Amino acid sequence: MIGMMPVNLRDNIVSLFSRKFEFQHKACNLDISNLCTLECPKCMRIDWKDKKDIPGKIMTVEQFAKIVKYFRHIHFCGQISDPIFNPNFITFLSMCKEENKRSSVSTAASQRPMSWYERAFDTNFRTKWIFGLDGLPEESCLYRINQDGEKLFEVMKMGAKKGLRIEWQYIVFSYNENHIEEANDMARDYGIEFVVNYSGRWNGKSDPYRPRNSEFSA
Ligand SMILES: C[S@@+](CC[C@H](N)C(=O)[O-])C[C@H]1O[C@@H](n2cnc3c(N)ncnc32)[C@H](O)[C@@H]1O
Ligand code: SF4
Repeated sequence: MIGMMPVNLRDNIVSLFSRKFEFQHKACNLDISNLCTLECPKCMRIDWKDKKDIPGKIMTVEQFAKIVKYFRHIHFCGQISDPIFNPNFITFLSMCKEENKRSSVSTAASQRPMSWYERAFDTNFRTKWIFGLDGLPEESCLYRINQDGEKLFEVMKMGAKKGLRIEWQYIVFSYNENHIEEANDMARDYGIEFVVNYSGRWNGKSDPYRPRNSEFSA
């Protein structure tokens, strides 16, 4: 049938099918709401004085059901939200499991009870969790405003103990640039992967968050 079609139409159909095939081998990074409790000073959310005006809505289970079928890997991260605040999030993790899709989570907020994190971990053991803990647990809130870093570290330890892949994402700032080794040792002690990130989001050379060691800024 396709061989009898005009060449342009045939090419368009072939290209549409191959694009769908391409997507099915790709990862999709999602904002699943417009909500976050933290106020990290370099986040895009800072551009909105009234947080109610931040664009986006809570993604529904019906919407996610379409997306999860289409991609190979879902990354719950986004640009303006923290994934833990979508009330359907744990359902999304179980849908990834049912569809046999890879999943990962980037989170820094800590305003969910320990029991919620335990339920989320138990729902899908294959999900990789990346925690934004920028510095030692007690100092991370200097950038991650409103974060309880000590609680979040307990959450990370619980996840690692259950055998999940837990990553400590450590963005280097002036207040934590001398604690990288110590944090790395803590991560190793608890079976947590440790990844140092160099930010490029500086307001010039005198930005108080900018590490003094120039090797630590992009
Ligand atoms: C907007 S956040 C959304 C996910 C989640 N709320 C979080 O913060 O991990 C997207 C990514 O930006 C990263 N990020 C936050 N502040 C940053 C900074 N100053 N420099 C570089 N990356 C940053 C976060 O760690 C996360 O990996
Ligand atoms: S936790 Fe993530 S989304 Fe929330 S303010 Fe910080 S960078 Fe932005």
